Amino acid sequence: MTYIRSRLGPRDETLDRVLRDALIREGMPAIQVDDNGARMLQIITRMYRPRLVVEVGTLFGYSAIHIARGLPPEGRLITIESDVRAARMARRYLDEAGVGEKVEVVHDDASDYLATLPRESVDMIFIDADKKSYPQYLKACFPVLRSGGVLIADDVAPGGDFSGEATPGADPDREAAAIDAYVRAAGRSNRLFSAFIGTGHGLLVSFKDWGIRHDSPE
Ligand SMILES: C[S@@+](CC[C@H](N)C(=O)[O-])C[C@H]1O[C@@H](n2cnc3c(N)ncnc32)[C@H](O)[C@@H]1O
Repeated sequence: MTYIRSRLGPRDETLDRVLRDALIREGMPAIQVDDNGARMLQIITRMYRPRLVVEVGTLFGYSAIHIARGLPPEGRLITIESDVRAARMARRYLDEAGVGEKVEVVHDDASDYLATLPRESVDMIFIDADKKSYPQYLKACFPVLRSGGVLIADDVAPGGDFSGEATPGADPDREAAAIDAYVRAAGRSNRLFSAFIGTGHGLLVSFKDWGIRHDSPE
């Protein structure tokens, strides 16, 4: 990451301030998306110009700031976070970063909230919550993602090294197995066309193809 920053430029002052405040002053865990992944999220959002993005796992809003910065003028982001303190912090940082109007922070369990969304209503989804639930998130996200939509999962580095972003206190073997199950299911799917992007922790980007209408990725 030092190399990337030295060549592509430093983080701007807003991002630095958010990281300093969240990690040092508030003591939040450093499990936000890595710098290269954050840039990639912003680039995909800029290129794809989604009208509605859903993020699963907000933490203090670091990746949400990047996605929001990439949105077209009419675009908005709904980001879901189960931890109330993190959700409040994200609300504050998103407002301070000047993108607050584009983002709704939902304090809820991601699976419960995803189940309330209409079918095929979301253009882009970013999955970055508890790793053990990745296969469940794939099942929940697939029906709400529109055909032609983009599904992105963080921490899927080939070989399963997501140690930089493991959920504190969780069983790493179980998390790695769940991530592997997600990648296999995406790879097997005849509706998803996927590729790894070798960011720090690895993104799996999947395009939802048009096809016979059904509700599961298989
Ligand atoms: C890796 S962090 C998200 C990092 C964030 N996307 C970023 O890059 O800035 C994972 C977050 O998911 C949240 N989370 C875990 N289980 C959840 C659930 N069932 N529903 C919603 N959020 C959940 C955690 O509280 C944590 O804040």
